Amino acid sequence: MRVEVLLTITRSGTRSLGAQIEEQLRDAIRTGSLRPGAVLPSTRDLARQLGVSRPVVTDAYGQLAAEGYLMIRQGARPRVSQSAAPVESARSAERPRGRPDWRPRFDFRPNIPDLSAFPRGAWLRSLRDGLSRIPDADLDYGDPRGVEPLRVALAEYLGRVRGVVADPGRLVVTNGYAQGRALVCQTLATAGVRRIAIEDPSHPEQRATMIRAGLEIVPIPVDAAGLDVARLASTAADAVVLTPAHQFPTGAVMSAERRTALIDWLRTRDTIAIEDDYDAEYRYDRSPVGALQGLDPDRVIYAGSVSKTLAPALRLGWLVVPDRLLDATVSEKRLADLGTAHIEQYALADFVARGELDRHLRRMRTRYRRRRDALVSALADALPEARVEGSAAGLHATVQLSETDDEETVLAEARARGIELAALSAYRVASAGPPTLLLGYARSPEPALRSGAGELAEAVRAARVHTAR
Ligand SMILES: Cc1ncc(COP(=O)(O)O)c(C=O)c1O
Repeated sequence: MRVEVLLTITRSGTRSLGAQIEEQLRDAIRTGSLRPGAVLPSTRDLARQLGVSRPVVTDAYGQLAAEGYLMIRQGARPRVSQSAAPVESARSAERPRGRPDWRPRFDFRPNIPDLSAFPRGAWLRSLRDGLSRIPDADLDYGDPRGVEPLRVALAEYLGRVRGVVADPGRLVVTNGYAQGRALVCQTLATAGVRRIAIEDPSHPEQRATMIRAGLEIVPIPVDAAGLDVARLASTAADAVVLTPAHQFPTGAVMSAERRTALIDWLRTRDTIAIEDDYDAEYRYDRSPVGALQGLDPDRVIYAGSVSKTLAPALRLGWLVVPDRLLDATVSEKRLADLGTAHIEQYALADFVARGELDRHLRRMRTRYRRRRDALVSALADALPEARVEGSAAGLHATVQLSETDDEETVLAEARARGIELAALSAYRVASAGPPTLLLGYARSPEPALRSGAGELAEAVRAARVHTAR
């Protein structure tokens, strides 16, 4: 079969032929004119259609595969990747599908805390106190870094709890990590960073943000000790973004050796890491590991938010930025929105200073540990052949199925039973691995986790019957 795609390249401009092919295919995929699963011409065919050499097409396809847009398999035609609506696919796995009022019977989505435990009373009190205390001057636009009381409270909190070297002057309050990451990517791109290494697997929204900032993605595999720093060192990446406290989505905690190696790499290359201190507050069986930023505050941009500790809806996060990037980052924040909402910042400052955040976390850690234990033991009974990992910290576990299980069929069977969950493949870039489910346990009480695990095991068995047919 000969496959044609509509691409036009020009030899008169400054853009290389490969860059033009990459750009047009990327745009076609992003805008939906090339749909997930669509077949593309082989490298040989496309080279012939466009009158370019084959390596030009091979390199362009390779880059698009690295960014998660294409699937390239030996002996098969290149296809637009299933996760190539990059932003939507994983986020939709984290959101209930179907009608907006539809609720899953068992909610195993990763990434979301128990929203029913949001401390409404304590927050209301902080909101009221914050509002009564906010000076008139702070009802103006003000400093784009955020209001002073919050920057002071967060610097104290992050130093005490995470070992972050944070002075309030280098703290920038953001609308969640999502905005922090976008500001930093823009800042790095302006500072001359071209290639940024990311963990593979990782969140596709992160990838999309980086591509939008004009950065080239360099995916680096992750194993049980976190990001593979030796692989990173063998690439030409100019910067790296990682989740060392609890790798998302594998759940790996970055080992001490890898942390040291990473800091060595940052110093040798004189470059920058973005530390997404994701899920750091939840740690059950091991003593807390401090933030990477504490090891080299001049080379690590630290990022965090209240999305997993309180609620994503607050849209409150922060960056701690090295001096050399501070002005540029603040300027990006100013251009983005002139600053995050002040009244909520005052409320969070009060909430942290009053010790409410510590109190809430103590309560939630106990609750989540019990739920984690219930899920792990229910899975051991119901699905003993599965390997459950990544549950020493965070709000979800990974459940590795047998090589012969088909992830898509398992997901379909699970959803048919009203079970919401995500699979690891939605987060992969270029890596491969056995079928693996991500089971969030934060939102369900223990009895629901036990019956949900039982029904999930039935779904896995039903999928095996289907796959065998
Ligand atoms: C890896 C990772 N880090 C951080 C966040 C938090 O993002 P935000 O603070 O913007 O809610 C998320 C949310 O999905 C995430 O997946």
